[in-house]
Amino acid sequence: MTGHGRSGGHPVAPGVPDERRPKAVDPAAAEEFLRQVYAETEPELPLRDRLRQVRSEIDRRGVYTHTAHELVFGTRIAWRNSARCIGRLYWQSLQVRDLRHLHDPADVAQESVGHLRAATRGGRIRSTITVFAPDAPARPGPRIRNDQLVRYAGHRNPDGSVVGDPSQVEFTDRVVGMGWPRSQPPGRFDVLPLLITGADGRSRLFDVPPDAVHEVRLRHPEHPWFARLGLRWHSVPAISNMPLEIGGVVYPAAPFNGWYLDTEIGARNLADPDRYDLLPEIAKRLGLDTRSVRTMWKDRAMVELVRAVTYSFDADGVTMADHHTESERFLRHLEKEEAAGRSCPADWSWIVPPMSGSQTPVFHRYYDEPDPDLRPAFLEPHRI
Ligand code: ARG
Repeated sequence: MTGHGRSGGHPVAPGVPDERRPKAVDPAAAEEFLRQVYAETEPELPLRDRLRQVRSEIDRRGVYTHTAHELVFGTRIAWRNSARCIGRLYWQSLQVRDLRHLHDPADVAQESVGHLRAATRGGRIRSTITVFAPDAPARPGPRIRNDQLVRYAGHRNPDGSVVGDPSQVEFTDRVVGMGWPRSQPPGRFDVLPLLITGADGRSRLFDVPPDAVHEVRLRHPEHPWFARLGLRWHSVPAISNMPLEIGGVVYPAAPFNGWYLDTEIGARNLADPDRYDLLPEIAKRLGLDTRSVRTMWKDRAMVELVRAVTYSFDADGVTMADHHTESERFLRHLEKEEAAGRSCPADWSWIVPPMSGSQTPVFHRYYDEPDPDLRPAFLEPHRI
């Protein structure tokens, strides 16, 4: 059935198929969140009054409007609850751009670009989230289909090989199918357009202006040939496809960023065999014997690649963490959470860095099991 008029008391979106129509907010989820807000902070309005307001708004609209204070608190707790993030020591510093009035894909695209500019600040990266319109029974919120605001295209060759980022081949084919002109010749670092879906379910493409995409050209402190490989990476990792749930309200478009950790780029994006797979080439240039894995050529090439990443970001004055320092900070975060009487969920396989794990203190212990029902939270990405 396609909805017209009202359902359970609140208006529903006309023309939106049932499976895409957002459900009404669960009042129990709202109440649980508000109790947490009042337990951890001191809003002016008494809790009893706020609960009454929220219940009546849910009855009328199937959704309620967070106060600015609740929104900021909710986004920061969602970060604090992110079991895969090693960078949570600074959860209280998250900058919130409250753009909940924006629904239209063109506005969402423009302010996603605004997000990149506000977060980049010439390289002094600031952890930032932009919150667009929430889901409501009367109107689904917008969705950003890209997994990050900045990603490089993956161009599949007829022989099966890929130019660019292999993890983006499917997405790249999709936007090309929608009319995005693939650059000619296809490059290894072509910034993808934003693909944004509006309340009516229609998706549109928007280019990200080059001057909003801060990048670092990679070079090595000792090997001049490294710069000639022509490698680069973007400065800001801004996840854009994880819905944010706060007190039962879902914000499907809420892109957020921190700053990069050296190993994310050097030991994963550029090194994974199913990503840029650069270790064989780097090993060759280093003159390593790649005939046997027992020469440790992969390990040695990886170290030099991560060194190049860190060196280049530092030289350009772009914020970047290293896995040693960040691991220590994470343990400090754990101590602070414990002192506050809270459990800190953490996923060992995500927290331990992908190189030199045993040389970081996060390796040598276990963590509280993540609870999938913990809220506020960033939810599993929507399927593209
Ligand atoms: N690992 C992802 C990437 O390499 C980024 C994930 C978020 N990272 C961060 N430092 N906040 O693009």
